Amino acid sequence: MDFEKFCQENCVERRGTGTLKWDSLQDIFGDPDLLALWVADMEIQSPPSVREALQKRVEHGVFGYGRVEDHYYEAFFNWMKKRHGVELKKEYIRFATGVVGSLYTAVRTFTSPEASIIITPPVYYPFYDAILNTGRKLVTCDLDNNGGHYTLDLEKFEKAIQENKVEMFIFCTPHNPVCRVWTMEELEGILEVCKRNHVLVLADEIHQDFTYEGHPFISTANVKDGKYRDNLIILNAASKTFNLAGLIHSHVVIFDDKLMEKYDAYIKTVGSPEANLMGLIAVEAAYRGGEEYFDQVKALICHNYNYMKETFAKELPKIVVTPLEGTYLSWIDLRGYLPGEKVEEFIQKKCRLACDVGEWFSFTGHGFIRINQATHTKNIKTAVERIITNIKALEK
Ligand SMILES: Cc1ncc(COP(=O)(O)O)c(C=O)c1O
Repeated sequence: MDFEKFCQENCVERRGTGTLKWDSLQDIFGDPDLLALWVADMEIQSPPSVREALQKRVEHGVFGYGRVEDHYYEAFFNWMKKRHGVELKKEYIRFATGVVGSLYTAVRTFTSPEASIIITPPVYYPFYDAILNTGRKLVTCDLDNNGGHYTLDLEKFEKAIQENKVEMFIFCTPHNPVCRVWTMEELEGILEVCKRNHVLVLADEIHQDFTYEGHPFISTANVKDGKYRDNLIILNAASKTFNLAGLIHSHVVIFDDKLMEKYDAYIKTVGSPEANLMGLIAVEAAYRGGEEYFDQVKALICHNYNYMKETFAKELPKIVVTPLEGTYLSWIDLRGYLPGEKVEEFIQKKCRLACDVGEWFSFTGHGFIRINQATHTKNIKTAVERIITNIKALEK
């Protein structure tokens, strides 16, 4: 694949288009001119099929109330079956705005106000907010870092659950930011511990489509032939896969009747959200016509990641880059060259990069940065060059 050509044809300038990533740099980082590698969305356009479908609707010119048609479900279910072997039915599906919003909804619906909820840091920081902002008690069980490869110690996990009478586990699968795609054995272990301790699993599977060679995604829905479906809420979306986050449209998947009854009862009390019309159109078009394009996007992400990993290995071998099993993010340990507490300032002030930093994901995360690889290769090259030059300057 000609990556340069793909970037030229499909990556766009986003500054000045009202984006969180590029136009909030002053507000968030205090410097509007940083190179933005944070927020998990892309500089890569959505597939042509999506743009065409949206344009057609814009030309139609009416944006009244919509409804979810059978052909939407068909496109969504075909994708889930073909790519992930997950068989879905209409009655398992509810629609929501974003996955983050559904974290809050699920916490309020399925846990008591005094509940303890467990997460496994380093992990996507809105998980903390969904627990703390709803007044629940936060329980953490850190993943173990084995030279950049992260694992969950099940004994430690179960002990934390039992000691804190945990009611829910918010599970990131694939895991942002440590790029893990959990294996069948790991999934079985985690889901079994939760089930035997009556801990409901809220599985955020938004990164399901971003997995790489040798690391197939296994939905929690399919573990042990669906054994854990009665203890599971799954959140997924096409928003990461096809760069549609601003269209605010996602899925809640619940297999168990009793859990679904509870969900519906709660939603009645807050007013049922309608599915977003443009979200429906975009997602259906993406699932129907975006597959080939998506595979090219994934190839570009691998290309960017490999460039970064190989260049660091050659120039600064003490940088630890977590292996890319899943997501389009890179988790990078700079502590071989800098004290952890200095990394945030170094990355922003010296390298002029806007990255998510380790302490956003974990109380003990100092020294790490997260770089978004779903961008024009030239941005990754610039970031790598700036990090190398500035670390070498420190060593002089
Ligand atoms: C694990 C995870 N969940 C949820 C989201 C955001 O989901 P949404 O935009 O649908 O709220 C992200 C975005 O980075 C994410 O990484």
